[in-house]
Amino acid sequence: MGLIPDEIIRDIRDRADLAQVISRYVTLRKAGVSLKGLCPFHQERTPSFHVHPDKGFFYCFGCQKKGDVFSFLMEMEGKGFADIARDLAELYGVDIPDESPGPARLRGQPSLRSQLFAANRAAADLFRSALGKKGGAEARAYLAGRGLDETTCEAFGLGFAPDSWDALGKALAGRGITADIAESAGLVVSRPQRAGTYDRFRNRVMCPVTTPGGDVAGFSGRLIEGDGPKYLNTPETEVYKKSKLLYGLDLARAGIRGANRAVLVEGNFDVVRLHQAGITETVAALGTALTSDQAEVLRRITGRVVLLYDGDAAGKKAALAALTVLLGKDLEVAIARLPDGADPDSFVREHGPDALARLLDGAQPAIEHYAYNVWSQTGATARAAALGEAAGVLKNVRDPTRRDLIVGTLSEAMGLDPAVVRRAVARAGAGGVPGDGPPPQRPAAAPAAAPLPPRQELSIITLLDVHPELLPHAEAREVFSFLTDSRLRDMYSAAREGRLDLSATADNIRNEIKKILADGNVTDVANPQGRLDQFLDELLLARRKHEISDLHRQLEAAQRSGDVERKYMLMRKIKETRKQVD
Ligand code: UTP
Ligand code: MN
Repeated sequence: MGLIPDEIIRDIRDRADLAQVISRYVTLRKAGVSLKGLCPFHQERTPSFHVHPDKGFFYCFGCQKKGDVFSFLMEMEGKGFADIARDLAELYGVDIPDESPGPARLRGQPSLRSQLFAANRAAADLFRSALGKKGGAEARAYLAGRGLDETTCEAFGLGFAPDSWDALGKALAGRGITADIAESAGLVVSRPQRAGTYDRFRNRVMCPVTTPGGDVAGFSGRLIEGDGPKYLNTPETEVYKKSKLLYGLDLARAGIRGANRAVLVEGNFDVVRLHQAGITETVAALGTALTSDQAEVLRRITGRVVLLYDGDAAGKKAALAALTVLLGKDLEVAIARLPDGADPDSFVREHGPDALARLLDGAQPAIEHYAYNVWSQTGATARAAALGEAAGVLKNVRDPTRRDLIVGTLSEAMGLDPAVVRRAVARAGAGGVPGDGPPPQRPAAAPAAAPLPPRQELSIITLLDVHPELLPHAEAREVFSFLTDSRLRDMYSAAREGRLDLSATADNIRNEIKKILADGNVTDVANPQGRLDQFLDELLLARRKHEISDLHRQLEAAQRSGDVERKYMLMRKIKETRKQVD
């Protein structure tokens, strides 16, 4: 292994697009001159992770982690500096001279992880080329029979593991990959008693499973015909951790951002099929129940997940489990329901891509779905069980105000007193997902004070403190739904329970409240209810205006993509919303 001179390292750092690299893992939005998103290094709900592409570094105000493109990737991919430098050099077209003189910046072997990725990459290449050869005829016919075209198979890097005990092992050895590494990658298995190894995957269609960065971490091998498990997967290795990976994520990232949602399905072939049908935001957990790590990966790139699970009993059970995990990550979840017995793959085949797109667009918010269509539909005897199941899901919602909202929905759907639902949740043990660890500590040297909540919303809370008798009216006008700031929603929830305490808030907010009280806008009013209505009307107007500008943005996107139907739909919506403003 040669050395990489300093000037080459500098060249790589200059040419690498930091924002592009980080965007593989985190959705970044513009914030002034920098970009920001949810920090991948600690758990947070509001973005404090800043990226400065021009200066080439990132910094998190929450956990104070900082670094450059090298340290970011070393941390995310678990590779060494030299490995990352080589990856980036390849990606951004920097030549690393073979034998470089000069200061020895780097020396030594690539890390184990890097060697495993290289072995997997080589195996993926071999599988892919085997699919195109004579021996791959049956596998090609199988894929064609499932309605998958060549472009799709290529995009997913699908391949074929020949029906042989040693073809892969030999081919890898021919490429300089040792049996040791091939075994550590899970590609070959050492023979008990005798020397040597045999190939793990034989006569299967091979689906490479990649990391978010696009490295091949392992494989799912689908049986074509005959005996054996339907899928054979790479065992847990240094790089294949099935509880952290999502099938298709690498290809789905752009689709997820574009559609503003991720579609989660159960099967690998559902993923492949849906991408071909244009639903390119689809990913799958790798045959296991969705884990909190996988949910976390999704949460960094999107706020919304649509569950499209098989329409059988197992699928329904798995969907509920996934919902529970996703709610624990504060994700918005919707459920798209397939007919009994269907899976996404069979549904597309039978009804076509448009029907599937409609099904997804019509997905119902998950809690409402369960509340109205499942939990409330039980007979009297199963009522308690349904409530228990509901409470089990709800207890994972950490945000108390959000939980409060859901309790409201549930109690209404199930015809129960909210207090009954709340007690059930308490019994189920509200407050955090087991095994998730404590929330991140705010650093002792607190960064700048949190921003102030919107003045008008704060005025409403202050008004309610001065005039608690307005609460029923506030409830009737659904004040809660107007509050965009979570601190104010907490205060409102407290007001509902008669324990609003304006002094128990951050200094800067308390100061703001003092100003509101001082200017007499909420204290010296002849008609407090009228004032509340006035605040709400103003907020409503602002909200509608915001909606209109949002619709305009969507309209531009639809125009760019030439989606005429959507364009007209949006124009209609804009017109309707305008009417409410005027
Ligand atoms: P499915 O049995 O639904 O597989 O299992 P599928 O991908 O939809 O396959 P087709 O459409 O019947 O061909 C869902 C997922 O569970 C994992 C795989 O990841 C699969 O995609 N699984 C399933 C295994 O790991 N091993 C198995 O034996 C079966
Ligand atoms: Mn399936």
